[in-house]
Amino acid sequence: MKALRLFALAAGLTLFLTPALSMAQGDIEAGRAKAYTCLGCHGVDGYRNAYPSFRVPKLGGQHAAYIVSALKAYKAGDREHTTMQALAGTLSEQDMQDIAAYFEAAGRGNQ
Ligand code: HEC
Repeated sequence: MKALRLFALAAGLTLFLTPALSMAQGDIEAGRAKAYTCLGCHGVDGYRNAYPSFRVPKLGGQHAAYIVSALKAYKAGDREHTTMQALAGTLSEQDMQDIAAYFEAAGRGNQ
């Protein structure tokens, strides 16, 4: 019974929170599709690429505002990283908002 009540509470909270979140930020569903390329590198915990000299930062659960500002910095060239600069250069403001909303939600276990 206790589990059932907890479940009902969680479901209620989700219903309550979802509209507020999708209004304030990008579109999580659109972001899921747009983030497909990113997951090749960012989707795996502790992933190391072919050059084991660097790790790929985890994006799931980061605040959307942080992800958007990092992407803008790459796009503007304020932050150095050839791959990320090239990728961020292809993203519009809306793409960044959507992708950031998706990654933030993914960290809450909504992936
Ligand atoms: C080829 C692998 C690769 C792909 C694909 C990739 N990234 Fe990255 N990303 C990296 C690496 C490596 C870094 C760390 C770069 C650095 O040190 O600045 C990074 C850094 C970032 C950061 C900064 C994270 C932080 O904590 O500072 C963000 C945000 C980000 N990527 C978003 C994206 C998004 C959005 C996409 C898809 C459009 C994407 N990345 C695709 C490899 C990748």
